[in-house]
Amino acid sequence: MILLDGKKTAADIKAEIALEVSTLIERGHKKPHLAAIIVGNDGASLTYVNAKVKACERVGFESTLIRLPENTTESDLLNEIAILNIDKDIDGFIVQLPLPKHIDEQKILMAVDPDKDVDGFHPMNVGKMALNLPTFISATPFGILELLDRYNVQTSGKHVVVLGRSHIVGSPMSILLSQKRKVGDATVTICHSRTKNLKEITLQADIIVAAIGIPEFLKADMIKENVTVIDVGITRLADSTKQSGFRLVGDVAFDEVSKKCDFITPVPGGVGPMTIAMLLKNTLLACKRKS
Ligand code: GUN
Repeated sequence: MILLDGKKTAADIKAEIALEVSTLIERGHKKPHLAAIIVGNDGASLTYVNAKVKACERVGFESTLIRLPENTTESDLLNEIAILNIDKDIDGFIVQLPLPKHIDEQKILMAVDPDKDVDGFHPMNVGKMALNLPTFISATPFGILELLDRYNVQTSGKHVVVLGRSHIVGSPMSILLSQKRKVGDATVTICHSRTKNLKEITLQADIIVAAIGIPEFLKADMIKENVTVIDVGITRLADSTKQSGFRLVGDVAFDEVSKKCDFITPVPGGVGPMTIAMLLKNTLLACKRKS
């Protein structure tokens, strides 16, 4: 079994980005600049956004964190987005999800300038991704493609089973892996809460991408030998033995599943760190596109 080490791979990618940034600056270019908007005080979301901002500093980017209160109105948020859209110094920005219930998420994502949409969530960029045209690929599926690529996991002709149909992970992952591309050419089955005979399907998989948010859902009796498992889940479970008061648990019962795997991502230290590295990659791309 080979561990797909997202922490190390993300560190390699960030070092490559940092090198590119120093070259850009030597040539008199300005630093790439990422902004992030977060609405409310959700602990997990704040942790993720802070990690994104810190990662920017480490690779030599400028970063701006805009914190808005929970009771921010939709029109106030649209106003902040309009300001970032016209700010010439900002290369890309993200609006951290989920948003409070009183705000229409789709309306917000559609207000972001597609050229600054480094999350790749705007329908124009989702459309380009689906057509295999150059665009910003969302950080989580992009990170998974990169991890499979760097570990030379073969996908061509393989049966990939994606668990989950979210707009952020399951849906784009299934589209990308079925496309004609370096990491792609797979036969993809997408499963969700209404799928019947799920175990029959997962038992046929060469590669499983688990993105449903149910802790330790994928068990050893659901997979065949020599499979590759990508665990996108990161649920916080209360744990009084931890200083933070919680531990992170993936969608995969790692101890039993890993025994049957050729490749598997750990949680934490698998897909999570890759997501941040790929957001930085998209921001660098946005910055270079402008010059
Ligand atoms: N919430 C969970 N994942 C993401 C992500 O990739 N981008 C944003 N903006 N919010 C998220």
